[in-house]
Amino acid sequence: MRAIILLGGPGAGKGTLSEILTRKTDYLHISTGDMLREAVRSASLVGQAAKSFMESGSLVPDSVILDIVEERIDSGDPQAHFMFDGFPRTIGQAEGLDSIFVRKNARVSNVFNLTVPREILIPRLTGRRVCKSCGAVYHLINKPPKNPGRCDIDNGELLQRTDDSEATILNRLLVYENQTAPLIAYYENRGLIRHIAATQTPDQIANIVLGFIGA
Ligand code: AP5
Repeated sequence: MRAIILLGGPGAGKGTLSEILTRKTDYLHISTGDMLREAVRSASLVGQAAKSFMESGSLVPDSVILDIVEERIDSGDPQAHFMFDGFPRTIGQAEGLDSIFVRKNARVSNVFNLTVPREILIPRLTGRRVCKSCGAVYHLINKPPKNPGRCDIDNGELLQRTDDSEATILNRLLVYENQTAPLIAYYENRGLIRHIAATQTPDQIANIVLGFIGA
């Protein structure tokens, strides 16, 4: 079992890249953001614990995150390869993942750090729209749907994420700088990190990643 990690600030394009890599590789996509939004929708215990943190753009406690990630890993094929999107997000989560992987004789093979200037991240997030039924991601300017407000795939209603308001975005960026950016040095010290300018098109970024993982 091995894993790649997609690192990058809010709106860097981790979800968009994951969608392409899921189609082109056998890596299983694990997005803690998607798992938490589903938990909030279903009002599970995890969802109730996570809701207020997510609404304010703060991080959900490490213990909750590590539990849901380990459960997800355990529920699949023990030989599967994983693609983590938005996890780990703190040094504590990275150390927790290391411990899980020691137990499972697994390893992180590559960490891709998607770099985007802050002045580009904010409009990416304010312009993002997500299909209410299938979760497909659009952008009002970069990737508009064919019919305004409707998903190209299933005609579902396109909504703005509640944490994509400008005030919450600013907090998410601050949280990223304080709590997640230190992971760059953490993985640099292990010789695992690759920096990718994520101002390129999603397909260009995916081709760079595919070159590194040999898929
Ligand atoms: P999460 O869902 O992980 O949010 P995030 O990390 O802030 O990242 P986003 O999903 O906002 O952005 P993205 O990088 O995936 O960009 P996307 O591809 O959509 O987490 C949400 C919340 O959950 C957190 O705030 C926290 O509360 C909680 N949480 C989640 N994980 C946690 C954890 N591990 N620990 C603790 N708490 C956790 O792209 C954005 C837009 O840009 C789209 O419109 C897209 O079309 C466009 N776009 C993408 N790529 C490009 C490109 N190359 N060029 C032009 N436009 C592009």
